[in-house]
Amino acid sequence: MHFPEYRARRLRRTETLRSMVREVHLNVQDFILPYFVHHGKGIKTPLPSMPGHFQLSAELLVKELREPVDRGIPAVLLFGIPETKDSAASGAHAKNGVVQQAIRRIKDAYPDLVVITDVCLCEYTDHGHCGVIRNNDVDNDPTLDLLAKTALSHAYAGADIVAPSDMMDGRVAAIRESLDESGFEWLPIMAYSAKYASGFYGPFREAAQSAPQFGDRRSYQMDPANTDEALREVSMDVEEGADLIMVKPALPYLDVIWRVRNAFDLPLVAYNVSGEFAMIKAAAQNGWIDGDRCMMEALTSIRRAGADLIISYHALEAARILQDGTKASRKK
Ligand code: PBG
Repeated sequence: MHFPEYRARRLRRTETLRSMVREVHLNVQDFILPYFVHHGKGIKTPLPSMPGHFQLSAELLVKELREPVDRGIPAVLLFGIPETKDSAASGAHAKNGVVQQAIRRIKDAYPDLVVITDVCLCEYTDHGHCGVIRNNDVDNDPTLDLLAKTALSHAYAGADIVAPSDMMDGRVAAIRESLDESGFEWLPIMAYSAKYASGFYGPFREAAQSAPQFGDRRSYQMDPANTDEALREVSMDVEEGADLIMVKPALPYLDVIWRVRNAFDLPLVAYNVSGEFAMIKAAAQNGWIDGDRCMMEALTSIRRAGADLIISYHALEAARILQDGTKASRKK
């Protein structure tokens, strides 16, 4: 490939030519849209650091889902904000807990929408950690029972996929076993396999009211410097029965997505987290970047790195652009 025989610009001349040789495409079917379900009724509280997102009570969430469902977004991911929290996270596996009720309502209204539930305890513990505490740290093995109970309660409520995000060792096996024992052997597990102890979860923790009340999550979430370890984490989850594997966050960890993609052939999910979303929104609001353009570019990079599915707060806006064009192009 030498100039002047090869001229790379020949195939960049028009949008049609560019689209013909485009290697990676974003599709509405590849998105999963996260929601924060608040206990009670009539609640729609905007989240200042996540423009366009809200804490929603279940009946308003059902209304909100009309557009994403009509646009063909195949799945949502639910987080709960319960009425009360305690040291044992009892709200996480309550039969009529906030997420359990929301699942039933959503499945009633949209039977074909895939409802994925985040299985974690931090939103339900008064100390904000992802498990039970002993000696100022999360005690791994007793936490497994609670996670398994929580996943099972989501399954009974009608969840289509459960997604453990706690990063305890052995949780996928514990959840798989409890689902199988109760006849949910068909229910897939989407494992947050390589989940890093990241500063990019900041806006989420405000939205879900799940910030740890002491210390941080570094004794269970991964060190940002490690990628060999990510492969070990993923292979553990695969051996324990994960059906989908995940890397989280996405943009600062595109290399991890790429390595996992090349080492495993299970469906790979990337979580484009709250802080990644907030950065684009904040810069766009200041007029420093073109928000729509940077959003599409960021999402494309996650696909290019090798993710099959993208969990993103941008999902609905991206779907609008894919289907209707950008605001700028609609004006023309
Ligand atoms: C629960 C959980 C978190 C996120 C997803 N599940 C927060 C955390 O681990 O502190 C973060 C998602 C986001 O930032 O968008 N453990």
